[in-house]
Amino acid sequence: MDLHEDCAPLAFLLGTWRGQGEGEYPTIESFTYLEEVTFGHVGKPFLAYSQKTRHAETGQPLHAETGYIRAIGEERIEFVLSQPSGIVELHGGRVAGTRLDLTLHAVHTTPAAKSVTDVVRSIEVTDDALAYTVSMAAVGEPLTHHLRAALHRDAS
Ligand code: HEM
Repeated sequence: MDLHEDCAPLAFLLGTWRGQGEGEYPTIESFTYLEEVTFGHVGKPFLAYSQKTRHAETGQPLHAETGYIRAIGEERIEFVLSQPSGIVELHGGRVAGTRLDLTLHAVHTTPAAKSVTDVVRSIEVTDDALAYTVSMAAVGEPLTHHLRAALHRDAS
């Protein structure tokens, strides 16, 4: 199936990526995790995104998230994300070469979720290597680094 023409600037993300990350936050124990990410398409003007992680030492499932990167023309995007922890994020932004420059529009939490009021994500690809970072303002802390990971595109 052909990639929708509006998604052409996002083609560098397509595929399945695996690797390892490190998490920290002032309120929790630091940890390392294994991650699998997939960006796919169905010929429409968005990429489907899914992510799952597990603890690097115990193998226990950790965070997961799923969403869509909407291509809205002229290399502009919208990123819609939901998490089983009761958090949804809406980002806008632009494709800059093989980097996504994202700006948070809104983050919302369900009544029973932990409080999150800001999320800053960076995503950059160099050939078959994807690096990202996530910072957040949560549980009363100001915007603070939470995650960094390095993934590699599956050859298959
Ligand atoms: C690779 C993705 C992620 C992993 C592996 C991960 C992992 C963890 C772990 C292990 C904890 C501590 C235990 C717990 O409360 O469950 C935690 C806490 C937390 N994470 Fe993440 N997380 C990820 C992404 C995110 C994202 C994207 C957000 C928000 C946008 C987020 C928000 C939080 C919050 C609010 C806490 C609670 C902190 C506290 O209670 O003091 N996490 N995360």
